[in-house]
Amino acid sequence: MTTTKQNKKTMQLETLLANVSQNSNLKDSYGATHLPIYNTATFDLKRQVSNEQVYDYSRSDNPTRNALESIFAQAENGFGCVCTNTGIAAIALLFETVLKNYEHVLIERDCYGGTYRLLNILFEKNNITPHYADFTNLEEVENILKSNEIKLVVCESPTNPSLKIVALEELAKLTKSYESLLAVDNSMATFASTKPLELGADFSVFSTTKFISGHGSVTAGAIVSKEAFWDEKFKYIANAQGRAQSPFDVFLVSLGLPTLTYRMKAQEASALKITQFLENHPEVLNVKFPGLPSHPQYELAKKQLKIIPSVLTIELKSAEKAENFIKKSKLFGEKVSFGSADSRLEIPARMSHATNSEEDLVSKGLSHAIVRIAVGLEDTDDLILDIIQALNC
Ligand SMILES: Cc1ncc(COP(=O)(O)O)c(C=O)c1O
Repeated sequence: MTTTKQNKKTMQLETLLANVSQNSNLKDSYGATHLPIYNTATFDLKRQVSNEQVYDYSRSDNPTRNALESIFAQAENGFGCVCTNTGIAAIALLFETVLKNYEHVLIERDCYGGTYRLLNILFEKNNITPHYADFTNLEEVENILKSNEIKLVVCESPTNPSLKIVALEELAKLTKSYESLLAVDNSMATFASTKPLELGADFSVFSTTKFISGHGSVTAGAIVSKEAFWDEKFKYIANAQGRAQSPFDVFLVSLGLPTLTYRMKAQEASALKITQFLENHPEVLNVKFPGLPSHPQYELAKKQLKIIPSVLTIELKSAEKAENFIKKSKLFGEKVSFGSADSRLEIPARMSHATNSEEDLVSKGLSHAIVRIAVGLEDTDDLILDIIQALNC
């Protein structure tokens, strides 16, 4: 197993991502311009020339995957990284490695539906108790930390789908003072916008299905650790459970990296223009986007996020109006996920967050009249014209 020691920040993110092959730990004697795909299950020990890293079986280690892991470790300023076959596999790896039976985890109430489902399974099978809180209220978080022995705290920022921004540095200080570990699901912000380990988190876990791969062509994930101790444990369990990402999928993710920050900045500008238009539309009751001054954590968002991810929600006057809006739109597909080149609409209450009971949805303020909009890379005015005709139908 390799461990990628990449704690030193040597170059700007855009420079690192522009040449993944060259800036990774890959030993390539041919000078390949892009990351070579080692699509092989096994390696012949007798023919290996490199003596630094011995490869024998791709479930344990593969040069293509290790290269991407070394790039992510550098991008997040962590010790090492494990790339997994989906984002939820990285979150499962986090839970199954860090938590033992009967331990407690504290998580933001407005977490991704798949994470919530996973915690319900762990509760039933392993007696792992989940506690939920509003992480924008650190007093509520502290009260839970005070009265329970919490092993792991997990948060998203922005949260999905309510788009709350959590003060990560303050949260990290708080979790440290109670000797808990902190993991940040960085799927939405990405390391192009926020670097949780630099703000005090122990783990940055993310789905690369979204902005990072950027083209909706692959499902994948990763977990970056601050310390060697946890990185080694994640690698050991990932191998034991067979969670590794395939070399071809690594290649697909790597194609999105050189353009990551440029795509995200263009999508942010487009989302801002769309939200400014929506705020003044008579059919729209409420718009949530951390880049708008009306957002409750606008000042924190400006400070903490280098780029605001292009995900927003609108509340329409009824569930029927929301259904109708989605049906009538021509440019936005009715699709889950976000961060791709194509714009998407969905109703979280019945798609990405359908694992929540109706009671949970109410407590999270997730009505069927709320539509999540993921803005892609189409022309902004085309998108606005499409929204106008879909809202007016
Ligand atoms: C915040 C967040 N975390 C994790 C995941 C899971 O990622 P994947 O779909 O790649 O398994 C998602 C998927 O939508 C997500 O939105």
